[in-house]
Amino acid sequence: MKKNTFVLIFILSLLANQSLVDDAIKKGKTIAENICSVCHGVNGQANSGGNSVLVPHLTAQNEFYLIEKLKDYKSKKLEHHQMSLIADMLSIEDINNVSKWYSKIKIVIEEFE
Ligand code: HEC
Repeated sequence: MKKNTFVLIFILSLLANQSLVDDAIKKGKTIAENICSVCHGVNGQANSGGNSVLVPHLTAQNEFYLIEKLKDYKSKKLEHHQMSLIADMLSIEDINNVSKWYSKIKIVIEEFE
């Protein structure tokens, strides 16, 4: 195989991979809008619409942490009257997609002097 062909295939596979990631993020955002936003906000800031102080922020949280927590609620390793019901409604693919959405939101950390 010629070197140029190899490079082209490599670039195409990167682009294909990126479009899979974009697709997952888009699906994850739809889940966030339809299900999670009432409590956690679409952007993961749980401070809209009269939310309880007991609802955690999800913005920019580690993707795999979110996946593990959601799987634990789904399997009932963690039991919570709201989150266990929510996680029950999600497929593993939904969990992966919505975790990708919340984890990819960028934040800026500012430290106090
Ligand atoms: C009815 C309100 C409500 C909705 C809707 C909801 N959550 Fe939650 N969520 C909570 C509360 C309350 C907690 C804290 C649970 C606890 O104390 O164990 C929580 C906890 C979590 C946690 C664990 C965070 C941590 O740091 O421990 C994750 C992850 C999570 N929610 C994701 C989601 C996702 C994704 C959706 C949408 C598919 C969603 N939640 C929908 C109320 C909600």
